[in-house]
Amino acid sequence: MPNSITNRMKNNPLPRLDNSSEIREQLLPYCRLQPGDIWEDKVCGHRVGCIDATDSAAIAELMGIERAALAIHDPPYNVAAFEVKHVSEFVEWCQRWIALTYRMLAQDASLYVWIGADQNNGFQPLPDFMIMMRGQRFSPRSFITMRNQRGYGTQKNWMAVRQELLYYTKGSPSFNVEYTDIPKILKGYYKRVGGKVTENTERSKSETIRASNVWVDIQQVFYRMEENVSGCYAQKPLKSIERIIMASSRPGELVVDFFSHSGTTLLASDGLKRKCFTVDYDPIFAEITIRRLENFRATGRTGWQNGNPFEANLENLEIQENDPDIDQSSEDNSVLIQNPLL
Ligand SMILES: C[S@@+](CC[C@H](N)C(=O)[O-])C[C@H]1O[C@@H](n2cnc3c(N)ncnc32)[C@H](O)[C@@H]1O
Repeated sequence: MPNSITNRMKNNPLPRLDNSSEIREQLLPYCRLQPGDIWEDKVCGHRVGCIDATDSAAIAELMGIERAALAIHDPPYNVAAFEVKHVSEFVEWCQRWIALTYRMLAQDASLYVWIGADQNNGFQPLPDFMIMMRGQRFSPRSFITMRNQRGYGTQKNWMAVRQELLYYTKGSPSFNVEYTDIPKILKGYYKRVGGKVTENTERSKSETIRASNVWVDIQQVFYRMEENVSGCYAQKPLKSIERIIMASSRPGELVVDFFSHSGTTLLASDGLKRKCFTVDYDPIFAEITIRRLENFRATGRTGWQNGNPFEANLENLEIQENDPDIDQSSEDNSVLIQNPLL
């Protein structure tokens, strides 16, 4: 193939793959997993399944006799995916994979769930999800907010930049305190120690601030970043998943994620020497998950900044030109989107 064509295709990002039916048809033959299939990584024993998160028999097969120390779930709570479902149906559906998760976790384990809060619809599904969780056997531990760099909103409302993350525990799992790269710039909290008046920076263990339940130091994924996986529309930043894994698991332990998408949890687990079992019911996202790990091992790259996971198969693909200045990848799936304000 002439270079110019190869380059054009290589630099041509994929559109979001959940609703591009023509491209889906062309990609499906390159996907190695059919519904129900499980791929096992020969290097570290990770598993990727093309499995529905609520299919208890298939999840049991994925897990075998192993139980996880940590579950990180990022369900598709955006309006487009659930426009025909009422919130109560969505929450009922969540209850099914939450109950399954409880059974697949070790006695002492942690659960993190990313969940949306639509300000145009009573901040749902967050409040009803929280109420549902009060009836489960998990203990609530923290309500984390990650601040997005890019916001959405109107001139008549506060710009929406939040992504909500709920942290629950089963039993008494360990928790490792983490520090950010943010320097401590505020002094104060004077206290007399050994007769001497000291201020907080003198007394503290670190020059930087502790990771709290408000995260302002994580860049959301956009198309110019190396970790971007084009075709994925709801990718979480690697740094956010790494933070969760480091806080709530130890090297060698098992991490599960029932909504894999771009495979962020698998990649973060691999880098931090945890084992990961993950599933996505869509064969294309299950394939992307496997390819992201393989690509990382082959090239050291965490995504495809100027390409896409199927570029080796692209010769036969017809992809429409995308505007390179339009972010194809990082839809904020936590709120209804109105005029983007950069
Ligand atoms: C919000 S994305 C997850 C993003 C992921 N955390 C990442 O960083 O790439 C949700 C994913 O869940 C998948 N999904 C939706 N319903 C599912 C189900 N019932 N079982 C398994 N996966 C499902 C979708 O195909 C989509 O890839």
